[in-house]
Amino acid sequence: PPVSRILSVKEMEDVALRVLSFKAAAYYSTGADDEITLSENARAFSRFFFRPRVLRPISSVDPSTTILGFQSSLPIFVSGTGLAKLGHPLGEANITRGCGRTALIQMVSTYASLSASEVAAARLSPAQPLFFQLYKHADDARAAALLREIETLGYNAVFLTVDAPVAGNRERDVRAPFELEAQEREIEAEARGVAETEGLEGEPEMPDQGVDEDDGGTATPFLNITDHNMTFEKTIPWLRRNTKLPIVLKGIQCVEDAVLAAEAGVDGILLSNHGGRQLEYSPPPLEVLYQLRQQRPDVFDKLEVYVDGGVRRGTDVLKALCLGAKAVGLGRAFLYAQSAYGEAGVVQVARIMQREIVLGMRLLGVTSVSELRPELVERIDWQPS
Ligand code: FNR
Repeated sequence: PPVSRILSVKEMEDVALRVLSFKAAAYYSTGADDEITLSENARAFSRFFFRPRVLRPISSVDPSTTILGFQSSLPIFVSGTGLAKLGHPLGEANITRGCGRTALIQMVSTYASLSASEVAAARLSPAQPLFFQLYKHADDARAAALLREIETLGYNAVFLTVDAPVAGNRERDVRAPFELEAQEREIEAEARGVAETEGLEGEPEMPDQGVDEDDGGTATPFLNITDHNMTFEKTIPWLRRNTKLPIVLKGIQCVEDAVLAAEAGVDGILLSNHGGRQLEYSPPPLEVLYQLRQQRPDVFDKLEVYVDGGVRRGTDVLKALCLGAKAVGLGRAFLYAQSAYGEAGVVQVARIMQREIVLGMRLLGVTSVSELRPELVERIDWQPS
């Protein structure tokens, strides 16, 4: 169907899954083990109902916000995902241009199909903000070189992924054709090349970190070279020493770690379980957000809290904002959109979300995102059928 006929994120996903190669569909859609966390991420939203207010003027509604101080037309951003070229020849550049046209912010994966500099070059203007998702290399010098590079390229924040010291068990992906495609080899070579262009010596062999490397699927060779020995005490100060950019921890999965992140002085946390691809039975991030709101409301004053996983509707975004999220990430939605329609698909998902968010705000009785408060939502103890 023409892209303008795509009315929902779900429909976009359906179209993409029809056009994607078997391999790409498996890598994009897979979750860990039996995919309980994958499906619960989305289902959790159905346990939260609104408490809408009526008889409030709603003719003019502003859904815009800031994320780490950067302007965003909607309270959403693109969560970084690897290998967009598996779905479309232009890869992540589709997302960059689509975000430029709709004033959204893209987080770029360390294992994007395009290099960090190619993505930066695809921006509509140098003022277009970009975030960088970091898998910290086990070798500090390589990781520091990458941080210097992305800072020079004009990236605006670092999202350090903390939920993937090793790859989860992604069986649908593992079962897909075993050989890495030539394209992926190229990307792998490129990922390793980043450090070499900085004049660092040495082969990109996997550092022995004392962990048995099982095959979790396409991402495994990448994750095997990430640092398995990061800690709050050591890694956050190390990051601060090596970059001036704001630091966000991506993949916080419980209240205690949210508190530790606040104590470590990071600028934000992204409550996330990697879209259900890492630890099976990691809780839905929306429930973690709810617990954080209940148990430690003070954390929301110390840093920005974001959430991703299973977000498919404008109402999902509004529920998370009511519970205290500053913004919400979408991973697969944009990945599928660029696969099916390139840049136009990305713009269409932004439009769908814009329409749904504004409509939801009107029907809730609010005109700005700052009015989205916990009183406007409640958790129910039954699951709608
Ligand atoms: C991811 N995600 C991810 N996260 C990360 O920190 N680095 C990465 O390289 C990737 N790669 C990746 C690939 C694919 C195909 C998917 C689906 C996801 C996780 C991603 O950033 C985000 O947390 C989830 O995608 C959010 O869940 P939804 O929106 O896909 O349900």
